[in-house]
Amino acid sequence: ARTNLYDFFVKETNVTRLCHEKAVLAVNGQFPGPTIYARKGDVVVVNVHNQGSKNITIHWHGVDQPRNPWFDGPEYITQCPIRPGASFTYTIILSGEEGTLWWHAHSDFDRATVHGAIVVHPKLGSAYPYPKPHKEIPIILGEWWNADVEQMLEETKRTGSDFNISDANTINGQPGDLFPCSENGISRVIVEQGKTYLLRVINAGLTNDMFFAVAGHRLTVVGTDGHYLKPFTVDHVMISSGQTMDVLLHAANGSAAGNNSRYYMAARTFATNTQLPVNNSTATAILQYADAPPTAGPPDLPNLPAVDDLAAATAYTAQLRSLATEDHPVDVPAARVDEHMLVTISINVLPCGANETCKDAPINGTRFAASLNNVSFVSPGVDVLDAYYSSIRGVYEPDFPDRPPLFFNFTDPNPADALLFTERGTRVKVVAHGAVVEVVFQDTALLGAESHPMHLHGYSFYVVGRGFGNFDEGKDPATYNLVDPPFQNTVTVPAGGWAAIRFRATNPGVWFMHCHFDRHTVWGMDTVFIVKNGKTPDAQMMPRPPTMPKC
Ligand code: C2O
Ligand code: CU
Repeated sequence: ARTNLYDFFVKETNVTRLCHEKAVLAVNGQFPGPTIYARKGDVVVVNVHNQGSKNITIHWHGVDQPRNPWFDGPEYITQCPIRPGASFTYTIILSGEEGTLWWHAHSDFDRATVHGAIVVHPKLGSAYPYPKPHKEIPIILGEWWNADVEQMLEETKRTGSDFNISDANTINGQPGDLFPCSENGISRVIVEQGKTYLLRVINAGLTNDMFFAVAGHRLTVVGTDGHYLKPFTVDHVMISSGQTMDVLLHAANGSAAGNNSRYYMAARTFATNTQLPVNNSTATAILQYADAPPTAGPPDLPNLPAVDDLAAATAYTAQLRSLATEDHPVDVPAARVDEHMLVTISINVLPCGANETCKDAPINGTRFAASLNNVSFVSPGVDVLDAYYSSIRGVYEPDFPDRPPLFFNFTDPNPADALLFTERGTRVKVVAHGAVVEVVFQDTALLGAESHPMHLHGYSFYVVGRGFGNFDEGKDPATYNLVDPPFQNTVTVPAGGWAAIRFRATNPGVWFMHCHFDRHTVWGMDTVFIVKNGKTPDAQMMPRPPTMPKC
């Protein structure tokens, strides 16, 4: 294994999109930021220099960081933020991941522009479980706001309102030429006839899941979240916020007579809560055949499902299966479960606070909030990891509930007003080292059924089941796939349904779990797992590095 070194200079950089120039936070002047390359088992060291004007942290999304929570990144969970003018060096330990992961800011809404790909190649001497692609191309889906996102966050906090929808979806930072002033910047992928390309698709969007497709080309999905899948071929991909999808594209449509030399690649929002406004525009990039004569007229657009096509999204997600071969085995915890958790995911209301203006929530005198098992997570002022490690009292309570405090018809679209209210708390779940944990996420329809991408730090987990309606503890476990379930770090919990995950708690530390829609994260759709040390030294957290920033 090697150690790869990177320097990240984070500072305000002027960027023009949709005819507007604005200053955004960017790494090394790039938006999206630089790609980190590594091989399985490498260590990556990133020196982050905060040359901007606000506090930041950076997270390595999908990297398990074995025994190494200190460098995981979420602010006030595993570290205090890096102050303006300060630097902090992250050590990123890659272990079982192979494929595409990504990095992003994990402070406020900074990840809108502070993000990039992490490409993990097989170890030297080992190969992909599919024919070697001619080239590998990161395709980062994102969202662009003309307004300043940090000001929008402040506004959301002050008014308790929902977040403004983005002005455009983007592909590699660009909305594409269906938008004004966007023709020159459009992202282009040049291909040669007859060759196969690996697109490493990442959804870095703050508020949206997305559909992605390439006109005239089918896509063969071979991996997700840094783990291989049984290949399957589709017309479009559905990728939740936080997820990655590795897809092979065979460039076979270039030189024959009547073919085009250019095709649109396109991304569009997938959103299920029809009570909310939605960005239903289409971001484009261009797939261009290098050796084909130019064709007249605009390229063809791919067929993308409608914005609210839950059936299309579900049909896609149902096809994800681990590769499960001798070289890439699965290790699904099937025999016993030590911790059974049923966790409701809800949008709620809370009484309007003293400094809040509260105008949009559906009940007078309230603001929007969000919860897991009706606990609306409050971010503490000292990070949970330090509080745990140094036994600082009063920062969190170790009593996150294993079950919803109240059972009702979770998917009823017309719930009683009293059910909408939640309670604040910094309540965490403590589990023993090595425990097998099952979490069934249950979406509720309290303020509209909605799909939620639930993300766990420190682990990949097996997604053993999904379904619609209320989870039935008597019947639904019998439908679990314990043979080749996908191994992911972000699970799409379907609108009005549930998803079940399992993992072995063998990575000691403090690990954030949250919805990857940032507006839900700040409203409290979060909790923390504290996984205790095991008995042997190699089952224990590494000691606190002396370089940790202070709160
Ligand atoms: Cu990609 Cu906690 O985040
Ligand atoms: Cu959510």
